[in-house]
Amino acid sequence: MISKSTKEPVLYRNEGAVAVITINNPPVNALAKNVRMAIADYLEAAADDHTARAVVISGNGRNLCGGADIREFNTPDRQVRPMTRDLMNLIEAMDKPVVAAIHGPTLGGGLELALGCHFRVARRDARLGLPEVLRGVIPGAGGTQRLPRLVGFRTAVEMITSGTPVDGTRALEIGLVDGLAEGDDVCADAIRFAEDLIARDAGPRRVSEMAIDLDADAGAALVAETRATLEKTAGGLQAPFRCLESVANTLTMPFAEGCAREAEISTETVASVESRSLVHGFFADRQVSKIPDIPADTPRRPIARTAIIGAGTMGGGIAMSFANAGMPVTLIETSPDALKRGRARIEENYAATRDRGRLTPEDMAARMDLITGVVGLDAVADADLVIEAVFEEMDVKQAVFRDLDRLARDGAILATNTSTLDVGAIAAVTERPGDVLGMHFFSPANVMTLLEIVRAEKTEKDVIATVLDLSARIGKTGVVVGVCDGFVGNRMLAPFWRQGDFVVEEGAFPQDVDRVMEDFGFRMGPFRVSDLAGLDISWAIEKRRAETRPADERYSPLLGRICERGRFGQKTGAGWYRYEGRNALPDAEIEALIVARSDEMGITRRKVSDEEILQRCIYQLINEGAKILEEGVAIRASDIDVVWLHGYGFPRRRGGPMFYADMVGLPEIVATMDRYRAEWGDTWGPATLLRELAAAGSSFKDWDAGRVD
Ligand code: NAI
Repeated sequence: MISKSTKEPVLYRNEGAVAVITINNPPVNALAKNVRMAIADYLEAAADDHTARAVVISGNGRNLCGGADIREFNTPDRQVRPMTRDLMNLIEAMDKPVVAAIHGPTLGGGLELALGCHFRVARRDARLGLPEVLRGVIPGAGGTQRLPRLVGFRTAVEMITSGTPVDGTRALEIGLVDGLAEGDDVCADAIRFAEDLIARDAGPRRVSEMAIDLDADAGAALVAETRATLEKTAGGLQAPFRCLESVANTLTMPFAEGCAREAEISTETVASVESRSLVHGFFADRQVSKIPDIPADTPRRPIARTAIIGAGTMGGGIAMSFANAGMPVTLIETSPDALKRGRARIEENYAATRDRGRLTPEDMAARMDLITGVVGLDAVADADLVIEAVFEEMDVKQAVFRDLDRLARDGAILATNTSTLDVGAIAAVTERPGDVLGMHFFSPANVMTLLEIVRAEKTEKDVIATVLDLSARIGKTGVVVGVCDGFVGNRMLAPFWRQGDFVVEEGAFPQDVDRVMEDFGFRMGPFRVSDLAGLDISWAIEKRRAETRPADERYSPLLGRICERGRFGQKTGAGWYRYEGRNALPDAEIEALIVARSDEMGITRRKVSDEEILQRCIYQLINEGAKILEEGVAIRASDIDVVWLHGYGFPRRRGGPMFYADMVGLPEIVATMDRYRAEWGDTWGPATLLRELAAAGSSFKDWDAGRVD
């Protein structure tokens, strides 16, 4: 027997006494319903085929199988029989031995498929794992029941609760596979393995029939220990606990019962907000580099040499991002001293990583070698990309860009790292505004993965396309945004933090606001973050903004008053909190200052509920996001989510502010805002887009879907 066409999603052929079933469903051989059905049919054919004495399951293209088809999540297709878990049981029930040929990423349902087989042969560079936990779900096709039986309980707990994959070599060590491929063609090796089984007259070896390697007491102790660790590390996610629960069932339940329970837990997790949020974040990350008016085949400008102007906090961090990616950079300063200081700071940074054992001395030296320091702007002459990171002053920046216009080669991309200034006005001083854009890195630039790519009115499309590609090369997630004060992230941050100040004036304390935000899932609340970043920076921005602030706008002077006392945050040992080391402690001096401010405003301090704190901060964030969409400053609501997930520590389990808004329900948000508006005035007016979507029973997700990509 042979499959009819090589275009079928699953192929079948005989190699002597071995029937070979090959998944042929690009790009990743996902287990879509037609794939599942075809595998089941061919298994039956192999069972009936008297010439076949063993079966190999392999994959065409880059892997054996990429697991469940993520596009089927939350659709009826996922339920079409055989469901993935039925398929694994069908494979395992075969009376002829079945061998999985594993290459490439064989993850999730892909590995579960291999676990349903009786034997496994893998390439050394294959990746095998059960990463379901990272999508907020548990392996639901027998993975939590078979893996511990095969590799041991402890190893399975680690792999399943962390989602971390192993390579072929490690897989052999832990007993996950039975052999390694000699060369690249793992299918040929799997066939040889099967022939050997036939020669030895070996029958099936079913993982479900293997015993767990721990007794109930030792298992229970390990489960308790793991749970305690997860309490500290899981960051509020439920899925790791659900994974643990299901694996733990192997200690007390027979295989079939454990699988039935696994199926129930799986269904619960798939329906959870946590899983929907994580899956949303996953797709949002993939979507973000697609720009509606910039075709994917837009020619890119080659970027080999980069120059960075300014070796301060940002310039140094940006240089490190390039060096970390193996790309050479020239760091330009105004004086040898400034250059020396800049290089010393970079070296200190690397040394800290080295001392923590995360960087070898050789790698550190190699990275330092990639960073060349130069005094004077002439050095930009041979750069393909120039990133300016000098003082945040329009005059200084414009002067630099005038020089760049004169010195940079034709076609070089000229970027500014400004966080507040108008990129168009900087571009306008050059004769080549089409080559100019903003590259807004976040501090510390060598660590933070967000990069706002600021597209000014005249920025050329190939410049944006080139910088989007480049951002991936240097390990950043580039989000294309338009020009406005604060771009997307900082613009949204401002009204959020302002509400924090206001609720403090009305009756809460910084620690209350921070606790509510940390319970929500931010790693640090706004006051602690602001202490960490340095209050003097916010104060400087605030003083600049004071000049344009409308007289009737509510404004809190608390930050300025704290700074006037020389309290600039953690670095001075005091800010919104006082510090013992890195520990933020509530401070009576600050509480007195806050109470005095309430008195001055004639406010009778009241208990501000946690719910109100949360709503006031987060709904302002969402509302500003809606305005940003209305104005076209961001392309998609999901892009805003990416900004907040990567740059501001918004909890991934909530999907980002705009996705969270959808989960709360837009009508609910509008109704709440209207109530606050009655009390606090127009800053609470819902954005037109928010109001319209709410009235139409729609969502930000629908709005995104309606946009042309
Ligand atoms: P910084 O004060 O630490 O560094 C600026 C450096 O630029 C100094 O070392 C200075 O000597 C150098 N410089 C000034 N004029 C120069 C010139 N004409 N040629 C060469 N070098 C010159 O400032 P920081 O914090 O690194 O900020 C730089 C830029 O990055 C600003 O536009 C800022 O708004 C922006 N930014 C800052 C963030 C932060 O958290 N610090 C975050 C994102 C953007």
